[in-house]
Amino acid sequence: MASKISQFPSQTILILYSILLFLLPLPSHSADPDPLQDFCIADLKSTISVNGFPCKPASNVTSHDFFFDGLTREGETDNSFGSSVTQGNVLAFPGLNTLGISMNRVDIAPGGLNPPHSHPRATESGVVIHGTILVGLITTGNVFYSKTLKAGEMFVVPRGLVHFQMNVGNKKALIITAFNSHLPGAAIVPLNLFGSKPSVPDYVLTKAFQVEQSVIDEIKYKFGG
Ligand code: GLV
Ligand code: MN
Repeated sequence: MASKISQFPSQTILILYSILLFLLPLPSHSADPDPLQDFCIADLKSTISVNGFPCKPASNVTSHDFFFDGLTREGETDNSFGSSVTQGNVLAFPGLNTLGISMNRVDIAPGGLNPPHSHPRATESGVVIHGTILVGLITTGNVFYSKTLKAGEMFVVPRGLVHFQMNVGNKKALIITAFNSHLPGAAIVPLNLFGSKPSVPDYVLTKAFQVEQSVIDEIKYKFGG
């Protein structure tokens, strides 16, 4: 075999390699695109629609635009999930516009759950600040990975995968999460399927979950669908 290859003139091999390289898929951007200027503080009120938000005129930008205290306050966990996600995305903190990053604060009461969800536009990493958290994620091949983490320990959830965090300790827990998108988006599985407006047809849900209508009615009732 090796002797056959060596019979090709090196120029032919070079051309073959070039064709092969050309046919390989180009690397795709896995995060928001790079900014084209130092900053572009989002003008959330602009009526112009672009991919991202238009920039506030630089002459109107102040120190205030580069700081955000929205993650300092503990979220309200007195709800059916026992958890609260405070988002530090471009909508809350317009200074993040076009920078391809954002952060959340996740407060979870003992026994509470940040329910299964996925981020269509970002990979997530997180660090437990205090508490004991079971972090789980499920791959597209339906493999479940999980670990119980304590303060200072980190996790990562590859973009788009369904994941959750549950407080398995007996004290309040706090997690700070970070994303490679200024607006990661979150599709919360139970709300998506059972709380959408308009509602997903019952015949789709009974078929998808292979259950009776009464089961769908009960879940829809809980999620307002
Ligand atoms: C946690 O999963 C978060 O999305 O902040
Ligand atoms: Mn998440």
